[in-house]
Amino acid sequence: MVLQGRRILLIISGGIAAFKSLDLIRRLREQGALVRCVLTKGGAKFVTPLSVSALSEEKVYQDIFSLTDEAEMGHINLSREADLLVVAPASADILARMANGLASDLATTALLATNKPVMVAPAMNVRMWEHAATQANIDILRSRGVACIGPVEGNMACSEYGYGRMSEVEDIVDAITKHLVPVSGPLAGRRAIVTSGPTHEAIDPVRYIANRSSGKQGHAIAAALARNGADTVLVSGPTTLPDPIGVTMVKVESACDMLAACEKALPAEIAVCVAAVADWRVADAAAQKLKMSLSAPPPLELAENPDILRILAKASNKRPVLVVGFAAETENIVANAQAKRKNKNTDWIIANDVSPKTGTFGSNTNTIHLVNRAGTVESWPTMTKDEVAERLVSRMSSHFCNIK
Ligand code: CTP
Repeated sequence: MVLQGRRILLIISGGIAAFKSLDLIRRLREQGALVRCVLTKGGAKFVTPLSVSALSEEKVYQDIFSLTDEAEMGHINLSREADLLVVAPASADILARMANGLASDLATTALLATNKPVMVAPAMNVRMWEHAATQANIDILRSRGVACIGPVEGNMACSEYGYGRMSEVEDIVDAITKHLVPVSGPLAGRRAIVTSGPTHEAIDPVRYIANRSSGKQGHAIAAALARNGADTVLVSGPTTLPDPIGVTMVKVESACDMLAACEKALPAEIAVCVAAVADWRVADAAAQKLKMSLSAPPPLELAENPDILRILAKASNKRPVLVVGFAAETENIVANAQAKRKNKNTDWIIANDVSPKTGTFGSNTNTIHLVNRAGTVESWPTMTKDEVAERLVSRMSSHFCNIK
């Protein structure tokens, strides 16, 4: 909950991208932000006040001349009680009015009256975006300190292609987070790589070999590292989880892709390999879908996958200072983990019991044992995966304090 208690005034202006603002509200609230919304006349043509209010769990402000709204919360307070004003989508029209200091409705009045930072996420047709008038308006706004996120390139609702699409919601949340949460914390200035989730090893273009990993523990560790100030790269196999706030996401499918992404992210001081990497891949994945009409089931010849943890932990000038592995075991948990730590040359290894009776795969809790180079074993009580992540990252912070 990296935005816990942060207050955001979201101004939704007219544009087809306004539907994405509903998801933006949801994602900001998931991170603990308090989101109050102003819906312009144009915005209300695309999303209803009811849906905005239901998602923000706040009253929606629309009319500058509303006596009741003014009595409850004047437009000056509306803009000053926020930590940040975000205009998403920002239409060409609202950008022009902002650049010219107009106060022709509640949104532009709040923007003119504010003493807080402002961020805009433009969304419009490519020709409107490229028009000299819009570009001049954006230059003016930037020169006054307004942060601009996007637009990005892509297909438009009007069947044209080019720059003008509103940035993806995750990128807007990321930009808001960077704006509101200064990079500080015990791990500030250190880079971390985390692997998470399963890998998918192709059999043919539609079939693959996978495992039951949900990615919850790896994602929680990446989020905790970012919260504690680390510049965090999360290399994740396919999962259904939302991208954690404040991390650089690299999405991969196979073990080979995961290794390449990790090597690209080096150098780093911390590497935490949580991914349940498939040990084998199909040696010769078929280029076309294997047909049922084959005379016999196809034999799948397997080839060994690279051991990412072992490669990262190998002594070299790029070896991270702290390499942490996980040991998913179903029997002799601690003994197997100790052997794995030695064998893979990691600094720490986290042993966890993944036998079906524990329900660890996919659940929100984990029971782990932390084993270090000296062989010391610390057994932690069953905790949520978020709590395990927080405690582990706090141990990492102390580790770096001690070796400083
Ligand atoms: N790991 C990895 N690359 C692989 C296999 C495993 O990076 N190809 C990492 C995992 O992310 C984990 C650690 O190695 O941090 C141990 O993974 P685990 O599945 O417990 O063990 P394996 O090495 O696969 O050995 P085994 O299957 O024999 O238990």
